[in-house]
Amino acid sequence: MDDVCGLRGRLNESKIRTNAGLGSTTNRGVRELLTFHTPLDLVRERLPEKPVACVRPERVSIAATWFRDNFPGEVLYAVKANPSPWALDAMYATGLRWFDVASEEEIKLIASRYPDAKMAFMHPVKSRKAIERAYFEHGVRVFSLDCEAELEKIVAATQRADDLTLVVRLAVNNADAVYALSHKFGVSEADAPSLLRKARGFADNLGVSFHVGSQCMSPSAFRDAMDLASRLIREAGVIVDVVDVGGGFPSAYPGMTPPDLELYAKVIKEVFEQMPVAMNARLWCEPGRALVAESTSILARVELVKDGALHINDGSNGNLFDAAHCKWPFPVKAHRPDGEFEGVQQGFKLYGPTCDSLDAMEGPFQLPADIREGDYIEFGMLGAYGVAMQTRFNGFGETETVSVEDLPWTSMYAVVEKRAASAARRPARKSPRRLKVVR
Ligand SMILES: Cc1ncc(COP(=O)(O)O)c(C=O)c1O
Repeated sequence: MDDVCGLRGRLNESKIRTNAGLGSTTNRGVRELLTFHTPLDLVRERLPEKPVACVRPERVSIAATWFRDNFPGEVLYAVKANPSPWALDAMYATGLRWFDVASEEEIKLIASRYPDAKMAFMHPVKSRKAIERAYFEHGVRVFSLDCEAELEKIVAATQRADDLTLVVRLAVNNADAVYALSHKFGVSEADAPSLLRKARGFADNLGVSFHVGSQCMSPSAFRDAMDLASRLIREAGVIVDVVDVGGGFPSAYPGMTPPDLELYAKVIKEVFEQMPVAMNARLWCEPGRALVAESTSILARVELVKDGALHINDGSNGNLFDAAHCKWPFPVKAHRPDGEFEGVQQGFKLYGPTCDSLDAMEGPFQLPADIREGDYIEFGMLGAYGVAMQTRFNGFGETETVSVEDLPWTSMYAVVEKRAASAARRPARKSPRRLKVVR
């Protein structure tokens, strides 16, 4: 293994190599990361040969703190967006204790790291063994489902447990989302009432959930989904104890400027108060992207310039799946280790390192026209669904992780930070209350 960042001796080798997808090279807590001031400093000092994830744990803390203070209910982090321990640690440090897990590996990761964490197994399709071990070995009590067959599996695998929270996932409109998630999961309007009634019969607590789609650009999508849930709850005639509004909270990317997150929280609070649910019903959300997207950029090296395109050492099978397959508009910046660029920009197509011709990113990415072999491209806003998507196809994909201290490209939390900064600038008052405490 290449030791770009000099950590090899300090870390358990097998720990680093295991767990691809759950971040084989991201398997480090905050305190184990080497820190550089900026990605350019790293480029100039180390000339990294492999892709590098430049992470900013503080961005995760700021996002998680915003959700803690502004979402009017419980926040469950959707681990799939980025299971890197440094990110989980940053969230945990803000007091976040609930995790939305989708697989046994995610359950084991959370259980081993945070014994007091609570988990909701929110994948609507699970193996019987996974359900059984989640319930009996890891204390998971919350399970999602979207059909009768899955309900039967959960009931059987938990031996008809009487302490289950069963969350019925509804199919909802995903038209306001940049990345729709409605094709695979969610019970239809027609089938939902009878499934809700059946699940009620086995549930200590009954929940409804939905996903409005990832990067949802309109708060009204949550209103519509919650209104639909209300209608189906009435039709079913059941008492509902949990309303889980899922993920979908947006981040800011070039060409995508979402409404303020405050508006999402406001709409959700207003509609929840009108829903026909138990008096003490709980409200949950499961953000992934909005908690981690801003935290990470990926540094990739240009290996060849050919026919006006750039061949780089990261791609669709590494950290750039969404850039290749969803044409996601990640911001880019070029870094030259030994000089400056001339300044004229040009649109480039990029190719990833594997032999698969699908490993290509159309862009066009605006980069200096004189970019050449040995220069680096930094892709911003890749904290969500970036390192989490890595594979080792063709032997590529290994990614070092370092922490950096510069600011991200864009932020949904800028207003919060401005407020915090101006509060910090305000001169300390001689307050009578403080004097009282001193005395
Ligand atoms: C069940 C569930 N919850 C939450 C999320 C997180 O969504 P997002 O990253 O859009 O917030 C996902 C994403 O796929 C999901 O499937």
